[in-house]
Amino acid sequence: MTFTRLDRSTPADWDRIAHESVEAWAIVPDRILGMLRSLAGITTGFAVDQLVHGLQTATRAERAGADDDLVVAALCHDIGKAISEPNHPAVAAALLTPYVREEVAWVVLVHQDFQGRHYYAHLGKDPSARDRHRDGPAYPLAERFADEWDQASFDPDYATLPLEHFEPLVRSTFAAPRRL
Ligand SMILES: [Fe+2]
Repeated sequence: MTFTRLDRSTPADWDRIAHESVEAWAIVPDRILGMLRSLAGITTGFAVDQLVHGLQTATRAERAGADDDLVVAALCHDIGKAISEPNHPAVAAALLTPYVREEVAWVVLVHQDFQGRHYYAHLGKDPSARDRHRDGPAYPLAERFADEWDQASFDPDYATLPLEHFEPLVRSTFAAPRRL
């Protein structure tokens, strides 16, 4: 019998919960892959859908010699759009935070402000939005992420690698959190 209210739980209950929670880590890679697949068909006016955009961003990062944390972050940086566009960078950063080094999660968190240099003027927003992150932990990396990989990755004619290529990296990255 387990408890029905927290104030009646016991140390033995919490031993069991801790054990089963660690076992549940095993489903995370498949959940992430499922969320990525669900981005297929979300086009919203762009030349490629959000799955291809993430794959292309990751392909460019990998071909530029980026390390595994950056490649998986490139693949997943817009994964929040599987649910909704507003606040999607924070959703993606929160998903990545336990699994990649801190500065990489930060790059994802702020990526839209860095992207803004390339299109915010069309929306009447400040193209210099990235300047407010000058004192952040990885400003040059965030510039490279946005300017070289993310903002360039809406090209249907680019030789984008398929999700299967990145699947081993997704499985190893999300196998277990590095930080709880
Ligand atoms: Fe993007």
